[in-house]
Amino acid sequence: MKKNTIVTLADMKARGEKISQLTCYDYSTARLMDQAGINMILVGDSLGMTMQGYSDTIPVTMEEMIVYGRSVVRGCENTFVVVDMPFMSYQASVEQAVVNAGRLMKETGCDAVKLEGGREVCDQIRAITAAGIPVCAHVGMTPQSHHAFGGFKVQGKGEEGAARVLADAMAVQAAGAFAVVLECVPPKLAALITRKLDIITIGIGAGAACDGQVLVWQDMLAMGPFTPKFVKHFAQVGQIMTDAFQAYDAEVKDASFPAAAQTYAKSDCSDEILERLEGRQSAELLKLYSL
Ligand code: KIV
Repeated sequence: MKKNTIVTLADMKARGEKISQLTCYDYSTARLMDQAGINMILVGDSLGMTMQGYSDTIPVTMEEMIVYGRSVVRGCENTFVVVDMPFMSYQASVEQAVVNAGRLMKETGCDAVKLEGGREVCDQIRAITAAGIPVCAHVGMTPQSHHAFGGFKVQGKGEEGAARVLADAMAVQAAGAFAVVLECVPPKLAALITRKLDIITIGIGAGAACDGQVLVWQDMLAMGPFTPKFVKHFAQVGQIMTDAFQAYDAEVKDASFPAAAQTYAKSDCSDEILERLEGRQSAELLKLYSL
């Protein structure tokens, strides 16, 4: 298998080959995704919800993105890793955006960063890409702005709404983004945007016509507390884990775990050794064995 890069991903679009992306936040899961041939991983700020239990992504910090991001990067050989810029790490100024994108790349080893927004973040996209850091944009329903939207709602409805999302997607391409996530937009609008743009579109709740798809990994494995409409469960891993935890609990409690197969029986102490040790105080042992 070959390392995925912005060039190989663009070539996939040109050949009409679909691109797979999942979110990921840890080394062990990243290794499995890399071995499975997933093209891209997003270390999404959704980790605020999936890993930390917050109700949205707003509290996530740069330091947290760096810890999770570098764990994922260590698990990937070929998968292209994108790390999300958390809320207020790029909105306040272009300079802050460049400094924080640079920190994410330098301190995690990721391949690209992602930020949310359209026309309003184009200055940031231009400056970050000028610094040599590939940028994935994110338009439509942008979770960091859910307060401004009045909830996590489908965007791009009606002619004006559709024009707004299209204008945003075209603007981020013109600013230098190599890819754009289209989240919760009507499927025919996502198809139009995908046809019009040269850069990769990655859909989530945006229909099958996008160049690629992304899902939150706990969602696609049925581990989340709820299931958004656009999620498909590819395996009932949540149930498998619960069953395994219950089996472990039961075996610990009835002492059937650990069994002989899980113990170091071959190196066990002889009865003579045990006899000599039994009943000795700690100080005595230290003295007797010059410990
Ligand atoms: O943070 C995230 O996981 C995301 C995806 C849902 C696209 O932005």
